[in-house]
Amino acid sequence: MLDPAGPAAEAIAGLWWILFLVCSVYFVIVMMLLTVAVLRRPRDTGPPRYGGRAFIFIGGIAAPAVILVTLLFFSLSTTAALRQPETGLTIQVVGHQWWWEVRYPEQDIVTANELFIPAGEPVRLELSSADVVHSFWVPRLHGKMDLLPGKKTYFWLEAREPGTFRGQCAEFCGLQHANMAFTVTALPPREFAAWVARRQVPLVEPDAEPLRRGEEVFFRAGCHACHAIRGTPAAGRIGPDLTHVGSRPTLGAGMLPNNIGNMAGWVANPQAIKPGARMPATYVGSTDFQALVAYLMSLQ
Ligand code: CUA
Repeated sequence: MLDPAGPAAEAIAGLWWILFLVCSVYFVIVMMLLTVAVLRRPRDTGPPRYGGRAFIFIGGIAAPAVILVTLLFFSLSTTAALRQPETGLTIQVVGHQWWWEVRYPEQDIVTANELFIPAGEPVRLELSSADVVHSFWVPRLHGKMDLLPGKKTYFWLEAREPGTFRGQCAEFCGLQHANMAFTVTALPPREFAAWVARRQVPLVEPDAEPLRRGEEVFFRAGCHACHAIRGTPAAGRIGPDLTHVGSRPTLGAGMLPNNIGNMAGWVANPQAIKPGARMPATYVGSTDFQALVAYLMSLQ
């Protein structure tokens, strides 16, 4: 949060520093006065010797009023700076227990737990929830925004430079709330256009073993009831879209780095890795299982 990488986070971090510095100075002054008050016991009950009423008016009314109004000014100007700018791209994010569905409606792209955005330009976010209240937070890019069931909320993101930024659910949403992470990858605009083009190319049906067998196992084991793979009949909407799952950085919304070993562990028994997750264990024979995992990793 204090290492901002976009205009919104810069505005918020700037306000944070102002509040921190002003409050720190005031805190030190108050603590010094408190120490004096504790150490100096009144020797008599006569009128106070250090300023009396004037001190109360200045220290207790005038100074706080000036400081609070000044801070209010900074706070309001930060709020104004966070207003939604004009944007070209719209991304829909749907919160689920405990992962993120990410849709690019105009580009017809669906993914999960990863957002790709062009660097140097704001993108518009439409947020909603499939179950309970979640909160979308990429500390280096912006503040937080809730995802609410039955209601859309709107937000925006901008990264000044290309890079990858961690995001996190910031509203307690159940057992695996802490393990509801995602990444935002900002690409130079031309690379972003190439990413969109790559994601729009239909999948090529696997033509070699064991990938063909893996695809067949995917349907036989019932994975398609919850998951979609575009270009195949799999069109489930309960779990993440797996069209390019092999290219994702993590599994289980940030639980594990995505590699073939972790993919095998995750598919075999997600409950051991992320207790309470909606995905059940997969029971298939070992040859079928290896083919299934190889097939999933081939979905780049
Ligand atoms: Cu979703 Cu916390």
